[in-house]
Amino acid sequence: MADQGTWHAAATLGELNEGEPYGVEIAGHHIALYRVGNEYYATSNICTHEEALLSDGVLDGCEIECPLHMGRFDINTGEALTSPVEIDIQTYPVRVAGDWLEVCLPA
Ligand code: FES
Repeated sequence: MADQGTWHAAATLGELNEGEPYGVEIAGHHIALYRVGNEYYATSNICTHEEALLSDGVLDGCEIECPLHMGRFDINTGEALTSPVEIDIQTYPVRVAGDWLEVCLPA
């Protein structure tokens, strides 16, 4: 939970465009950031099926489609939605601080 982790500056808001997943590596964590309207989300950037970066996938509303086998996850809950993905992805709390999006990662 947010109060058990550490907040990290992840990207400037100007780097986060609607519908364009944005991959970053922070303290050894591969994170994908998303902007949907005025809401921001963060998940693990690694698909739970095989090795693929979700930031290379297609964002459709609040669903990210993996670029390798087209499995889908809900970026709000992390739920694996469509075959072949079966294992949920990790999600992380986010907050806006000035011009930055911050992500809370496990300490
Ligand atoms: Fe993502 Fe297969 S690697 S669906």
